[in-house]
Formats: sequence, C-alpha cells, structure tokens
Amino acid sequence: MAVQISPSILSADFARLAEEAKAVGGPGGADWLHVDVMDNHFVPNLTLGVPVVESLSRATDTPLDCHLMIEDPDRWAPQYVEAGAGSVTFHVEAAAAPVRLAREIRAKGARASMALKPATPIEPYEDLLPELDMLLIMTVEPGFGGQAFLDIMLPKIRRTRELISKHGLELWLQIDGGVSASTIERCAEAGADVFVAGSAVYGAEDPAAAVRALRATAEQ
Ligand code: DX5
Ligand code: ZN
Repeated sequence: MAVQISPSILSADFARLAEEAKAVGGPGGADWLHVDVMDNHFVPNLTLGVPVVESLSRATDTPLDCHLMIEDPDRWAPQYVEAGAGSVTFHVEAAAAPVRLAREIRAKGARASMALKPATPIEPYEDLLPELDMLLIMTVEPGFGGQAFLDIMLPKIRRTRELISKHGLELWLQIDGGVSASTIERCAEAGADVFVAGSAVYGAEDPAAAVRALRATAEQ
C-alpha cells in the first residue's frame, strides 16, 4: 500500500520553521509538511496564519498540508491555497457549505480535504466523498500535540475505508493525533494511508529517521 507521511510542525521549533521543514524533507523523507492552523475559537489554542504559510511555502520544496482548525473556513481556506498550500483541510463541523468550499479549493488548484473530530460520524457525509481528495479522521481531540491516540477511532477508520471502496473512489484517508511507531500499524491495517505525526517526528533525535521508520512500519 502506498503510504504518505506528513510531519506536523506543531511540534517543531516555531523560531526555526524553515530549518525544521528541511530536517524532514529530501529523498525518502516527508511527502507533506502538516501545518496546524488554530484560531483559539474552534480549538482552545492559537498557532499561525496565512503569512507564515506563505513564507514557509517559499522555504521548502515539501508540499504543505494545511489543517485548518478554525471557524469560518469558507472564508479562509481559499486564502491558504493562494498562500501556497498543496492540500487544505477544513473541519466539517465549522464549514457552512462544505461542498462549495471543497469545489473552490480544488478549482484553485489544491487538494480538498475534510476533517472529522472524534465525535463526528462519517455516515452523514457519505455523499460528499466524491467532492474530496482526502478525508481526515482525528484520532485525538484537535488542539494540541502530544495527546494519546484514541483507539476507539479504529472502527471509524475501517468503516470510512469501506465507504471509499464501496463508491470506487480514489480518496486519501488521513489520520492525525497520537500517531507513533506503536500506533501506526493499527491505523494502516484499518485502512488509513496518510499519517500525520508531530511529537513522534519532531520529538525524535533524528526527525528524518523517524519519518523513514514510520513509513516502513505503515507499509508492512
Ligand atoms: C492536533 C493537531 C495535530 C498534532 C498532532 O490538533 O491537529 O496535527 O500536531 O500531534 P501528535 O502527533 O503529537 O499527536
Ligand atoms: Zn493536524
């Protein structure tokens, strides 16, 4: 199974973002760089916004995977595409018009992705799947890095993979939160193929080696 690894810079040193991005790039390195945008409203934490994404996209060749944990993504998501993101994820709980938003993100040239918090079921959104390039299933409550992986999300990952297959779609299935060498195998087995990892990558002595190790474990 083709696997993609997207290290989250939430666990990196924000004063050295360009270097931290480079530390996971290069051959065999990260497929994406996961950028967690938080507005202190949708989640109780605040990180960065459009200008930082713009600078970061110029500082690294690794495509940016922006995860918007913000209110009013209908207004903001297109600006992240313009800032250089290759993939933009909005939360369905915050979007007023998810179909229109996904189409706008795609039309602007990025991968359109929709995220579900742990308590949000996939079933009501089954008909939206063809509008998306990726679906993100949160495996922690969004807001902070370093939380413990929620095993109770595994059935949801499995059911979502089944729905994707049932509809014959080419859709990436991303998981985010608590992904590590000891949890990634279960997620891959359940059907996830894009793995966000913050503390497991940037908390490691050698972040590039941590990316390779996660990929090797997920591909088993
Ligand atoms: C949490 C963020 C995650 C976070 C993951 O709300 O969306 O991307 O950085 O961090 P770890 O991998 O440490 O759980
Ligand atoms: Zn994230």
